[in-house]
Amino acid sequence: MIKKGIILAGGMGTRMSPLTIAVNKQLLPLYDKPLIYYPLSVLMLAGIKKFLIIVNKGQLNQFRKILPEKNNLGLSIEYKEQQKPGGLPQAFTIGEKFIGKDSVSLILGDNFFYGQSLTKILKKNVHLSSGAKIFVHPVKNPNLYGVATLNQKKKVIKLVEKPKKTRSNYAVTGLYFFDNKVVELTKKLKPSKRGELEIIDLLNLYKRKNRLKAEFIGRGGSWLDAGNISDFYNASNFISAIENRQGLKVACLEEIALNNNWINKNQINQAINFYGKCDYSKYLKSLIA
Ligand code: TTP
Repeated sequence: MIKKGIILAGGMGTRMSPLTIAVNKQLLPLYDKPLIYYPLSVLMLAGIKKFLIIVNKGQLNQFRKILPEKNNLGLSIEYKEQQKPGGLPQAFTIGEKFIGKDSVSLILGDNFFYGQSLTKILKKNVHLSSGAKIFVHPVKNPNLYGVATLNQKKKVIKLVEKPKKTRSNYAVTGLYFFDNKVVELTKKLKPSKRGELEIIDLLNLYKRKNRLKAEFIGRGGSWLDAGNISDFYNASNFISAIENRQGLKVACLEEIALNNNWINKNQINQAINFYGKCDYSKYLKSLIA
C-alpha cells in the first residue's frame, strides 16, 4: 500500500520562459488555483496524506506560504530543496529519508489529470506491494513523449523516449508508483547525454526484471503536461469550462480532505480565513453550509 507521495516542483521551466524567470512554474495560476494544487489533489484522491515537496533552491518560502507544513488539510508536508535540476529520479535520492522502508508515489508538479474514474483507478493501484507502475494515456503525437508498449496483461514490454516511429500511442504520464527498491535502483543510474538522470532509464531497470506494469487513463480521463504554454492554457480553459458549467471545483484540496474525513468544519473555517474574501472561500463555505 502506498502511503507517501513526492511532488517534484522544481525544474527550470525553460519552455514557459519568460513566465518562469521570476516565478516557479508550479506557483503559476492554472485558472483559479496555483498549478501545484492539481497534482497534489491527485495523490490526495489516492488517499495519500504524507508528502515531500521538492522545490528549487531558494524557493522554499514561496511554497510554504501557500502549502504550509502546518496546514488545514490534515496532511503531513515536508520540503526539500533540489540544488539544481538533475533529472526526475533525483526525487528518490533527495527523498531517501522520507521514503524510509516504504513504497512511494511520484507526481510531476506540472501534470494535470482529470476524469470520472480517476479516483477509482488510483485507489485500485495504490495497493502496489512490489515492482513499479506507470499510468499511460493515448495521445495523437506520441513522438513527443515517453511511449510504452503493453502486452495483454498490461505488462510493459517496450519503453522508448520520444520515438521517431512507434505503433503504440500510449504516452507515459507524470504519475508513478514504486516499491522501496526505487532508491537503490536510482543510485545505479548514470546521467544521460543531456547530463540528467532519466526516469525512462529507471523504469527500464524495472522492466528488465519484468516488474513494470501500466494502468490506463483511458479516453474518459484527461491528462495534460501543463509545462508548455499551449497545454497550460488548454488545461486552464478546460478547468474554467468545467467549473463554470458544474459549479463544482476541480482540485479543491479542502473538499478532498473533507470527503476523506481528514478534516472537519473547523479546518474549513480556518481555510476560509486563510484565503480571505474570494470565490474559493465562497466555495468552501458552500461545502459546510
Ligand atoms: P520538465 O517539464 O521535464 O522540466 P522543467 O520543469 O525544467 O521544464 P522545461 O523542460 O521547460 O525546462 O519537468 C517535469 C516536472 O518535474 C516539472 O514540474 C519540474 C519538475 N522537475 C524537478 O523538480 N526537478 C528536475 O530535476 C526536473 C528535471 C524536473
